[in-house]
Amino acid sequence: MTRLLLRGFDIRKGHLNLARQTALVDVLRPILKSAPLFRPTTSTGKQMSVRMTSAGALGWVSDKSGYRYQAQHPKGMEWPDIPQDILTVWQDVTGVEKLPDCCLINYYGEGTRMGMHQDKDEADFSWPVVSISLGDDALFRIGNTTRGGKTESVWLNSGDVVVMGGPARLTYHGIDRIRFNSSRLLPKGGRINLTLRVAS
Ligand code: SIN
Ligand code: MN
Repeated sequence: MTRLLLRGFDIRKGHLNLARQTALVDVLRPILKSAPLFRPTTSTGKQMSVRMTSAGALGWVSDKSGYRYQAQHPKGMEWPDIPQDILTVWQDVTGVEKLPDCCLINYYGEGTRMGMHQDKDEADFSWPVVSISLGDDALFRIGNTTRGGKTESVWLNSGDVVVMGGPARLTYHGIDRIRFNSSRLLPKGGRINLTLRVAS
């Protein structure tokens, strides 16, 4: 495991070995069955290319009324619980007592991307955000705490974990592209990113 500090982001390369990555994919399967992935629409009416769902007391949704956390999937059911295997990653890398109440599950298929944004819909920015990469490689771009300016990019591979906290908690970031089929972890290819946050 190597650790990279980039603009305050703590990037733990290879934090999860293959067995732990496979275990996470296994615990995600029933979650994706009971809370299926959906394609959010932004407040301007554009469909995002990434498909999403959540686990936890709160899930992140976006539609014509804007971005928000809510207790139900767009189809009306409660979100499944966050599995212990995922909470363990949070505990390992943050060392804080508090547990996340939202695990956003992003699925990146071929040709998908995530524009530069801040994670700023949470109530308290003193808690870190933890992001777990599973499956195909992704080009992660890190900017600044205000929009624009120079950026730096790093490839995230399956098993990498990123902690965004402290002064970097509100740093802009995004995914430019994925290398489709670069990993064999997910049977149909693509990438899953789990984002753990204390939302409320
Ligand atoms: C995000 O910031 O919403 C996702 C980051 C990632 O996919 O690695
Ligand atoms: Mn984000």
